[in-house]
Amino acid sequence: MNATPKGLDADYAELAASQPMDTQAMATETTLLNPRFYTTDFDEMDKIDVSSVRPEWDKLIAQMKSDPNKGHFKKNAEWDADWEGMDPALKREFIDFLVSSCTAEFSGCVLYKEMKRRGSNKDICELFSYMSRDEARHAGFINDALREAGVAVNLGFLTKAKKYTYFRPKFIYYATYLSEKIGYARYITIFRHLEAHPEQRFHPIFKWFREWCNDEFSHGEAFALLMRTDPKLTTSFANKLWIRFFLTAVYSTMYVRDHARPEFHKALGVDIEWYDQEVFRKTSTIARQVFPVEIDIDHPRWLPNLRRMRDAFGQMDTAKRRGGVGGWISHKLASAKAAATFVALYTIPVIKREPPKDVRLEPVY
Ligand SMILES: [Fe+2]
Ligand SMILES: [Fe+2]
Repeated sequence: MNATPKGLDADYAELAASQPMDTQAMATETTLLNPRFYTTDFDEMDKIDVSSVRPEWDKLIAQMKSDPNKGHFKKNAEWDADWEGMDPALKREFIDFLVSSCTAEFSGCVLYKEMKRRGSNKDICELFSYMSRDEARHAGFINDALREAGVAVNLGFLTKAKKYTYFRPKFIYYATYLSEKIGYARYITIFRHLEAHPEQRFHPIFKWFREWCNDEFSHGEAFALLMRTDPKLTTSFANKLWIRFFLTAVYSTMYVRDHARPEFHKALGVDIEWYDQEVFRKTSTIARQVFPVEIDIDHPRWLPNLRRMRDAFGQMDTAKRRGGVGGWISHKLASAKAAATFVALYTIPVIKREPPKDVRLEPVY
């Protein structure tokens, strides 16, 4: 059930479309759904010993060092952006998509760079310097696209203004591994879809997604290896529950956020639910390399509860805009509904997996 009154939504959309977009504020804002900036116990991470995965580690580092995408993130004759001709509602959602992607890329850049700066472990510092190099390119490339629309984000300001969330190293592994692999799955799914339907490619940035997502794939591989250096991380009872928690949180957040951009997905010719399930499926298949549990995304409770979660967030949003005591009460009720829905998703029985001996994978989608 969607309790957002249809008329109110339409009014709001009209009002919103007439307002100038403050992309700096969008990127700086910290909400449950926005990409966050992270900090961690860098000293603990600096103590990681990769000798148990040395052959795979050296191979991955050599590949990153060779920098296969060195010349990729540059505009060329294929860049045919047309912001003027874009439908205003689409433009708004597309900018929101770009700002959120840019913030997420830059968040990786900041975290990885800090690890490199604080560390003294040669293996770890080398890995994080390559990864921060890649993320800086990704964020810069998106910001260039935003600049053409006159709404670039001030990334230097963002590092100071944005709130940082502290995560213990193991939570950084789970969350970052997942976000790298899901990033790969998102980019490659859009790329393959537009390869089959080039007439829906309304902006040139999508043409860059294939090589781009290979960077994300490698970053995910690095975290898979890091997790393998300490088997407890993926085998203890408590950590399995944490992995399950991160899978549920990351997947449901993505579902809610994607559903907030109907025009964007319509322009791409993508059914949002189909796209999200496709991304979850790819991510889950890849994550078998290291996670001992997998969310059952075909379970009869999965999609209905994701839809309920989306509605709860819609109601929270409406309540916030309404304000006053009524708005406050509605907000509390919708938050409680979101929390209960999260529990319903979290308790769906998981599929147990035995991660293979050989952890490394290649991007094959
Ligand atoms: Fe990236
Ligand atoms: Fe990445």
